Amino acid sequence: MKEVHFNKEKGSELKLFTPGPVYVPERVLKELAKPNDTHRSKPYSEMHQKATEGLQKLLYTNNECLIFTSSATGIMEACVRNLVRNDEKALFFSIGAFGDRWYAIGISNGKISVKEGVEWGKAITPEIAQEALSKDKYSVVFIQANETSTGVYNPIDKVAPIIKDSGALLCVDATSSMAGIKVEVDKLNIDVCLASVQKCFALPPGLAVCSVSDAAFDKTENVKNRGLYFDFIELKKRNAKHQTPTTPPIPQIRGLTAQLDFILNEEGLEKRFERHEQLGKQTRKWANDLNLEMFPEKGYESNTVSTIKNSLNLDIPEVVSMLLDEGYRIVNGYGNLVNKTFRIGHMGEIQLKDLEEMLEILTEIINKLK
Ligand SMILES: Cc1ncc(COP(=O)(O)O)c(C=O)c1O
Repeated sequence: MKEVHFNKEKGSELKLFTPGPVYVPERVLKELAKPNDTHRSKPYSEMHQKATEGLQKLLYTNNECLIFTSSATGIMEACVRNLVRNDEKALFFSIGAFGDRWYAIGISNGKISVKEGVEWGKAITPEIAQEALSKDKYSVVFIQANETSTGVYNPIDKVAPIIKDSGALLCVDATSSMAGIKVEVDKLNIDVCLASVQKCFALPPGLAVCSVSDAAFDKTENVKNRGLYFDFIELKKRNAKHQTPTTPPIPQIRGLTAQLDFILNEEGLEKRFERHEQLGKQTRKWANDLNLEMFPEKGYESNTVSTIKNSLNLDIPEVVSMLLDEGYRIVNGYGNLVNKTFRIGHMGEIQLKDLEEMLEILTEIINKLK
């Protein structure tokens, strides 16, 4: 099996078809290796500003964009701590492992948290959203755009207006879709839209980003015990100077700036979204040709990660291992879905021909094992 050991000289040579962390292109690795000035310097502020302005374009928003030294879970917790008062109810829609995680964050922070779930593989439809919201008054609603465990993409364009009509603030976890699937923050009136960068941004892990609406900042002023490290108000104050309150991972922010420049000015947003759509379609066609069923309900399949049912009763660890021998990594199912499903990530900088090459080898492996 390839790359089971740490390789000090070369690093990993595997081609990652994972739902994050993903393959990082050479040009980004070179950006990360460049020297930087300090986080209170003018060059840093200029770079930070480029990053936050780039994020606004990516998210189709005029809302302020913030940079966090954490993974996405840090911002998920920040949303709970900054936006939910202890005397209010928060609603967590869950369609899989990461929805469950957000609900667990609500509970562990002592907030009055209600979970509305569906069977894994299904999505939150407008009807489900409407019914859930009619049961009680919620101050903040939390939902995934792309649920990475099940490979389901919620119809966020249709569900967001329903949530906003209820008067609640809306937080969207777009961790495994931001920069791969379009989300128009201002059009949908999303209060916080968040992601970490080790997925569709194709950067190494350690940084997370989000947009925050004025309404969300106003609410934050009235929420007590927000903590210090992830306080939206402190982050906003420093963001006005194009800085962060504490020392950020500066090389990462250089990488983010470079990637946003590439996404917006070289590849182009629409082309990037189309490429991800093609990657999703191609993977689904491949699965169908092999008589492998998709795990998600039809019509809600993600274009960044495909969760595929183990309809051929394959030894999934063996499939993963044999593919590793060929220099590629895909992953087993998540949590309860281990061995019942496997997942192919097709996000970030993966091109159609890269996917086709990997799928050809995977087909041979599956044909041998089935
Ligand atoms: C949809 C979703 N939300 C949240 C997370 C947590 O992200 P992180 O590991 O960056 O904290 C993940 C990670 O895979 C995810 O896919």
